[in-house]
Amino acid sequence: MAHDVRAVVARGKGEPVSVETIQVPDPGPGEVLVAVQACGVCHTDLHYREGAINDDFPFLLGHEAAGLIESVGPDVTEVAPGDFVILNWRAVCGECRSCRRGRPWYCFNTHNASQKMTLDGVPLTPALGVGAFAEKTLVAAGQATPVDPRARPETAGLLGCGVMAGLGAALFTGEVGPGDSVAVFGCGGVGDAAIAGARLAGARTVIAVDLDARKLDLAREFGATHTVDASAEDPVEAIRAITDGNGADVCIEAVGHPKVMEQAFYARDLAGTLVQVGVPSPDMRIDLPMIEFFGRGGRLKPSWYGDCLPSRDFPTLIDLYLQGRLDLDRFVSETIPLDGVEEAFHRMERGEVLRSVVVIDGGVAS
Ligand SMILES: NC(=O)c1ccc[n+]([C@@H]2O[C@H](COP(=O)([O-])OP(=O)(O)OC[C@H]3O[C@@H](n4cnc5c(N)ncnc54)[C@H](O)[C@@H]3O)[C@@H](O)[C@H]2O)c1
Ligand SMILES: [Zn+2]
Ligand SMILES: [Zn+2]
Repeated sequence: MAHDVRAVVARGKGEPVSVETIQVPDPGPGEVLVAVQACGVCHTDLHYREGAINDDFPFLLGHEAAGLIESVGPDVTEVAPGDFVILNWRAVCGECRSCRRGRPWYCFNTHNASQKMTLDGVPLTPALGVGAFAEKTLVAAGQATPVDPRARPETAGLLGCGVMAGLGAALFTGEVGPGDSVAVFGCGGVGDAAIAGARLAGARTVIAVDLDARKLDLAREFGATHTVDASAEDPVEAIRAITDGNGADVCIEAVGHPKVMEQAFYARDLAGTLVQVGVPSPDMRIDLPMIEFFGRGGRLKPSWYGDCLPSRDFPTLIDLYLQGRLDLDRFVSETIPLDGVEEAFHRMERGEVLRSVVVIDGGVAS
């Protein structure tokens, strides 16, 4: 049986998104049907509708979500109907060469639901294999991680993408430790999460860099000890000045721009770590003198989804949130209905929000 549900669809390149009635099949082997309660609006959703990811229209947007398992496929044992879950876009396979070597967070063969959700018979492409601006969505069982149901869905869902990417960039990719100095370039949802992650890990100095004064104010609320307005001063010099002339132990690029990447490279102390979590477009290039690469030592590390492992990290981070040790609520700038996504894209482009979160009717726990 297919379920008719309301969902946000991008029909064509650059066209405003619309709410449509789509058809979602019952779960088959390895799949689960999720009643979505909340789903954050991420830049990647906008990239899909602009045709910047690929041309596989129509897209079913939304991928930072939490909800309740409604039903499970015949062989699914890891989750059960009624479980409160956060969705993820890197369900690990357990069998690829990376998983077999004990590095499942790099899984080279992540998977999604096999059956298609459709719009009037046309298969939809779910954003990042999730598609959660919908009353119900179909995902692979490994894409749904149960967490403590006392967490608010609109907050919990944000761990499904940008907030996890930022937290993980500091905690896992950058391996920030007690006493470290950390500089975060770009203080959107991802950068602010990196700041929160650095603080959680015990960093002594956390420097926030952005071009927008409003973003720097927010960064302080997440735990930045210093801020640098890159529209007014050279961030490399400013970071050196704050760190006794040395540079930061860990620099995190959370913009996705070659100029910022270069600044982050040079703002490191000797043997420091550069983490790239911002996503570049295919045309971007960086040009570094090899002698600088060698002479400065350290590590240059791209961060896929914060090198997280959802089954390990989502429950832990939700517990830290419930204990008041990680302020995830601050990322939620506003809650909106399903038909508010197009407007939310515009607010995001104007830099007015960290995250707008779609709340599906009846989905708010508190
Ligand atoms: N690696 C991953 O797995 C992953 C996951 C999610 C998002 N991302 C990427 O992370 C990046 C940030 O995402 P976001 O949601 O926080 O975006 P955002 O647009 O909300 O934030 C970007 C911030 O960078 C600032 N900025 C722009 N140019 C700058 C410059 N030259 N110097 C300093 N700051 C500058 C902006 O003012 C803004 O505050 C994006 O590239 C996104 O695609 C990566
Ligand atoms: Zn794998
Ligand atoms: Zn996202």
